[in-house]
Amino acid sequence: MRQSEARAATFRASGPLRGHCPLPGDKSISHRALMLAAMARGRSRIAGLSQGADVAATAAALRAMGVGIARDGGGAAVDGVGTGGLLQPRQALDMGNSGTSTRLLMGLVASHPIAAVFTGDASLSRRPMGRVIAPLARLGADVAAGPGGRLPLALRGLAPAAPLAHRMQVPSAQVKSALLLAALNIPGVTRVIEPVATRDHSERMLKAFGAEIGVAGEEISLRGEAELRPRDVAVPADPSAAAFLAVAASIVPGSEVRMTNVGLNPGRIGLFTVLAEMGADITVSNRRDEGGEPVGDLLVRHAPLRGVDVPPELAPSMIDEFPILFVAAAFAAGETRTRGLGELRVKESDRLSAMAEGLAAIGARVKEAEDGLVVQGSGGEPLAGGATIDPRLDHRIAMSFAVAGLMCRRPVIVADMSPADTSFPGFSALLGDLAR
Ligand code: S3P
Repeated sequence: MRQSEARAATFRASGPLRGHCPLPGDKSISHRALMLAAMARGRSRIAGLSQGADVAATAAALRAMGVGIARDGGGAAVDGVGTGGLLQPRQALDMGNSGTSTRLLMGLVASHPIAAVFTGDASLSRRPMGRVIAPLARLGADVAAGPGGRLPLALRGLAPAAPLAHRMQVPSAQVKSALLLAALNIPGVTRVIEPVATRDHSERMLKAFGAEIGVAGEEISLRGEAELRPRDVAVPADPSAAAFLAVAASIVPGSEVRMTNVGLNPGRIGLFTVLAEMGADITVSNRRDEGGEPVGDLLVRHAPLRGVDVPPELAPSMIDEFPILFVAAAFAAGETRTRGLGELRVKESDRLSAMAEGLAAIGARVKEAEDGLVVQGSGGEPLAGGATIDPRLDHRIAMSFAVAGLMCRRPVIVADMSPADTSFPGFSALLGDLAR
């Protein structure tokens, strides 16, 4: 995959944001839809697939392993090869910026008798893979990684591998999903024990594709050598993308935005819970279930926000939303305190340091601790702005400062908006359209 060109963009104080926001398909669910369709035998159709570069990296890797994937507009037709059917890729699998592609595909490869090399961009090459390498090695996969378990890495899978019981060390839907995907081609029952619940898209979708999966308390069990049935999947809009618009509308006076068909999986909606507690005006209507996932429509209107203490227990359900929460906090009245967020230091960037540095640069008062930030809000007043932000190859840092720029006296320049293309192509243009 080509590294995209740096694209600087300027964000300045805007009028109210108004109108309907078209959102990208959920990134997490899109990866899983492609992978499970690949493991079914026959044709599945996926509607609403994310058009971002991360999901494109998953599609390209699956194609390189023999899966037929034809993308058309907002969807894809996938000709699955059946569990155990992946072929030896002829070249390295370029994961770009995508940790989810890497960790989940490592799981799939681990129980196939093939070898694959995983490479990625500078951000992904700094991220820890040991958390997934260790349990996959216990399955019998052979992994040679860079220092500290980092990319590039070579993984040789094993089939048949022996099932295992794994207790999660860090709350991570990616590690859990890697093991469940590996388990599809392992005879017997694999068990994953998850003391802290994380998003359960994999479990829901495995069930929908016909896998024998059970969830009892903290334990998830999956019977391998599964015969998955192809099916049609409708991917909901991404709540992690909706989060940026929800905060933008909350902080810019006079705003009113609508978002439809937004995924409302309980493992994803912590930000909306916290925003509501901060005083945000968010109405959810038309709640329904689509293909095993709860969805609904959101109406978000501007409202004065107040600072809150965010309980660390909420972290897994809003793990990707802290950068934009810190922006909301910077415009709230009073202090917002967060802790228990060490995981944010190993995302696409060190998100605690990136947000602390960027917010300070635009005039917010922020204190960085080892595992969280304390942000003193402006009480709805614009911040100074007038800074250039390095998004550190991290889409959520880029989009967070784009939103912050809408409420600053002087423009905020994001030195490179191209990372937004990993999850939300067209984000900057959408902000502009909503402000017109
Ligand atoms: C994801 C899980 C989370 C999240 C990531 C997507 C997933 O990562 O941050 O953006 O799709 O499973 P962890 O599993 O590392 O917490």
